[in-house]
Amino acid sequence: MTTIQQQIETLREELHRHNHNYYVLNAPEITDFEFDRMMRELQELETAHPEYYDENSPTMRVGSDLSKEFQQVAHKYPMLSLGNTYSEGEVTDFYERTRKLLGEEEFEICCEMKYDGTSISLTYENGLLVSAVTRGDGVKGDDVTKNVKTIRTIPLKLQGNDYPASFEIRGEILMPWNVFEKLNEERAANEEALFANPRNAASGTLKLQNSSVVASRKLDAYLYYMLGEDLPCDGHYENLLKAREWGFKTSEVTRKARTLQEVFDFIRYWDSERKNLPVATDGIVLKVNSLRQQRNLGYTAKSPRWAIAYKFRAERACTRLNTISYQVGRTGAITPVANLDPVQLSGTIVKRASLHNADIIESLDLHIGDMVYVEKGGEIIPKITGVDKEARFMVGDKVKFITHCPECGTPLMRNEDEAAHYCPNDKACPPQITGKIEHFIARKAMNIEGIGPETVEQFYNAGLIKNAADLYNLQTADLQLLDRMGERSANNIVDNIRQSTEVPYPRVLFALGIRYVGETVAKKLANAFPNIDLLQEANFDTLIHVDEIGERIAQSVIRYFADEENRRLIERLKEAGLQFSLSENILSERTDKLAGKSIVISGVFTHHSRDEYKALIEQHGGKNVGSISGKTSFILAGENMGPGKLEKANKLSIDIVSEDEFLKMIE
Ligand code: IVH
Repeated sequence: MTTIQQQIETLREELHRHNHNYYVLNAPEITDFEFDRMMRELQELETAHPEYYDENSPTMRVGSDLSKEFQQVAHKYPMLSLGNTYSEGEVTDFYERTRKLLGEEEFEICCEMKYDGTSISLTYENGLLVSAVTRGDGVKGDDVTKNVKTIRTIPLKLQGNDYPASFEIRGEILMPWNVFEKLNEERAANEEALFANPRNAASGTLKLQNSSVVASRKLDAYLYYMLGEDLPCDGHYENLLKAREWGFKTSEVTRKARTLQEVFDFIRYWDSERKNLPVATDGIVLKVNSLRQQRNLGYTAKSPRWAIAYKFRAERACTRLNTISYQVGRTGAITPVANLDPVQLSGTIVKRASLHNADIIESLDLHIGDMVYVEKGGEIIPKITGVDKEARFMVGDKVKFITHCPECGTPLMRNEDEAAHYCPNDKACPPQITGKIEHFIARKAMNIEGIGPETVEQFYNAGLIKNAADLYNLQTADLQLLDRMGERSANNIVDNIRQSTEVPYPRVLFALGIRYVGETVAKKLANAFPNIDLLQEANFDTLIHVDEIGERIAQSVIRYFADEENRRLIERLKEAGLQFSLSENILSERTDKLAGKSIVISGVFTHHSRDEYKALIEQHGGKNVGSISGKTSFILAGENMGPGKLEKANKLSIDIVSEDEFLKMIE
């Protein structure tokens, strides 16, 4: 392999990994800036060396947000992305290139904010919103019309009468900062995972199946691009003014520039002023205003030649690294946290920054006392992105990841394919014990009110509890001996604990805290194994045959039940009266009318929601699958089943069952 080929391969591998970290794991390890830089380096190498073409190179894709829960629809006009730049020099290049390509003809540049949300394409027919589709892979996207209709700033019916009979308008769906902060506060209070930034919150919300929850999340939308055969004006800016008359929300800060100087004035002003906008922005978009000139300029393979995005550098602060602390989670995972000299960054004071794992510490070459750069980059938890090595003067030791658990002293372990270190002492490491109990009592698990993390620690330190089963032995008298614990609170706590014995089996299963068994997996397991004895006896093969249970979960379940201590815990919880089987009601409603059937759900339904149909399929022993294949038994089809699915079903001669027919089948 040549050095160039080697370089290309390495970049591709790295970019694939970062893509996955960003889009799937939601845990980026590098800044967007660094990512774009690598992507451009790869693009340049690939252009210079077409002999190493690879159709699966990361440069080939525009990113995809497709999910199997929604109908997929082809875009009439593909949703392209914009070329990114980070330097003023490249903006000048863009401007000069445009001038040349237009043969020295005069032109205007429309300067807009680059909104940092999730893009959407809306289609209007005769003044009515008929569909809203996500970007998807740029060629086809998810039909999220029902959810988009809950967004108040998106008109369902247009005002006036001079709109084209049919057109598309594209824009960005956003969660305003204040809504985002409130949502995360609520989620923290409910012990739910926080959204990393408003962009993730907006795209996550748009993909919810329940549109009433979407409505409650108060999304907003800015529209910035109109497409159609008979738009009112030749100017992009002028068309957007028209769109505003018809009822669309368009940005009020968009301006037309006649010179490069005016473009730079706009960029520099908004680089600092954008922090006062109600929604997140991450740059400026510059577009040649005349549609005629846009057509003349045309497109490259991936983006228009008539527009460019100038991305802002994330705000960055420089401060001293004082110490590193290591937190131990309930599963024993160790999280390193940097303690910093307090510093002001994008409106808040930052004292701590996450360091993720040992590899990241190593790649930063951190020393205690170093002056480090911290960035927020749209995330709430700031991260360290670099070290000012020039400022290194009399620094302390190089940061070495700990080898032993800071809480119990046990040597740490690291699995080959994982980035995190673990403390294996799950039986006696205090934060693992209290962490497991905290998980057990959480709202989505046993929902025991009146006890929070501090109370758990207090009980544990007083020697009252060592595991979840001990909670059920607590007596009011024991609790009253504790600090700040009156008779009333003590009574309440004991009552709440007793009440939790009513919590249904799937949630009890979730509460046990078996690794990789979250809420949804717990439900699946409870359905497949209606009591805990059946689950305990299940072997690997039986487990992986359950819908959505993979090898990792199966192994984890087996490991959990192989442990004598866990089995004893369950025995004690059984004695305390907890629910370890599905209720008679649920069991009596279960049938095997759909046993052995693989069913695809498609379209829009009137009697039940999609989720309810999924539950019904499972209740009657069937299996809901995402896509049509030769193994599909039938398609449960509502209205507007996607044409692609219909064609595939016909090709494979798969039966299509209507809502009413289906309900009869399970009657
Ligand atoms: S115009 C063909 N204008 O940035 C160009 N895009 O990489 C169509 N975005 O996917 C896009 N603000 O989600 C345009 N004022 C703006 C924008 C904007 C944000 C997003 C959009 C697009 C991406 C471009």
